Amino acid sequence: MSVTGRIEEVKSEALRAVAGAGSTAELENARVKYLGRSAELTDIKKSIGKLPPEDRKEVGRVSNVASREIESALASRTKALAAAEREARLREEAVDVTLPGVPYPKGHLHPTLRVIDEVVDFFVGLGYRVAEGPEAETDYYNFTALNIPPGHPARSEHDTFFLDEGLVLRTHTSPVQIRTMLEGEPPVYVVVPGRTYRRDSDPTHTPMFHQIEGLAVDRGLTLAHLKGTLAAMARHVFGEGLKVRLRPGYFQFVEPGVEMDLSCFVCDGTDPNCKVCKGAGWLEMLGAGMVDPAVLEEVGYDPEEYTGFAFGMGPDRMAMVKYGIPDLRMFFEGDLRFLKQF
Ligand code: DAH
Repeated sequence: MSVTGRIEEVKSEALRAVAGAGSTAELENARVKYLGRSAELTDIKKSIGKLPPEDRKEVGRVSNVASREIESALASRTKALAAAEREARLREEAVDVTLPGVPYPKGHLHPTLRVIDEVVDFFVGLGYRVAEGPEAETDYYNFTALNIPPGHPARSEHDTFFLDEGLVLRTHTSPVQIRTMLEGEPPVYVVVPGRTYRRDSDPTHTPMFHQIEGLAVDRGLTLAHLKGTLAAMARHVFGEGLKVRLRPGYFQFVEPGVEMDLSCFVCDGTDPNCKVCKGAGWLEMLGAGMVDPAVLEEVGYDPEEYTGFAFGMGPDRMAMVKYGIPDLRMFFEGDLRFLKQF
């Protein structure tokens, strides 16, 4: 057979292969087979130089035409197949965006944290700054600077956890009063949420519990400011229309010291069998007082120029009352069934 005849044959075979290819992968195989480096057509082109001179031109022309035809058939078939394959893949991978999503479980704020947020938000709204201090505290800040010197009987009431090197787990957030005052000059308005520790464990005491401390030092602050501020806070957390009352209380770092009670927000003193106030009509809420001049002097503030009030409350206890939770220990057991109720 003549060389050109063979070329025509190879071309027809190639065009059939291209037309019959069912995937882009098969097309690629056909391209390698008919146009690749070791394809028959490639060999023919390479050997044109060895042909008798009068045949070279014609063989060259026919082989080039064959290559171009195969190439263009490959190109159009590739385009068609690629489009079909893309269609199929899109159909297969299609996502129905109208289907409902996988529900993502929502967390719950711990009841103590809810009370802390409410109290802190209230004070931030009044312009107080949020301060914090270390839980491993020095004996000096936890006691001495707060007017509770070494050997003072009040220390034994604190059921302290002692650490090495004169450190204690802070028994209250009051040491942050000292740290804050030492940082700068009055006026000082801070609210201090934090964890505190005492060696105590029963239905209303846990070794770790929370406190929120507050401190205001400025010119001309009086017990009236203390009462107005704390009454507004209590109504914000427990409900408008509640009454507060102050009773004398004793804390070493305030003078006078007070304890604040809140009228029972469940029975307002009308139910002798009330579960929340036990018929007392009042709920103990917090300790507070006017900052003792000895404490102001300890941090270098002039008690003739400045006065202040301080307060400390227990948000765990407040949450127990607010949500009617009978045992404080439930707060720290991490039982999801408990937490999910809030
Ligand atoms: N630190 C006190 C305690 O843990 C609570 C307290 C009472 C804080 C009176 C105060 C205050 O700032 O003025 O028992």
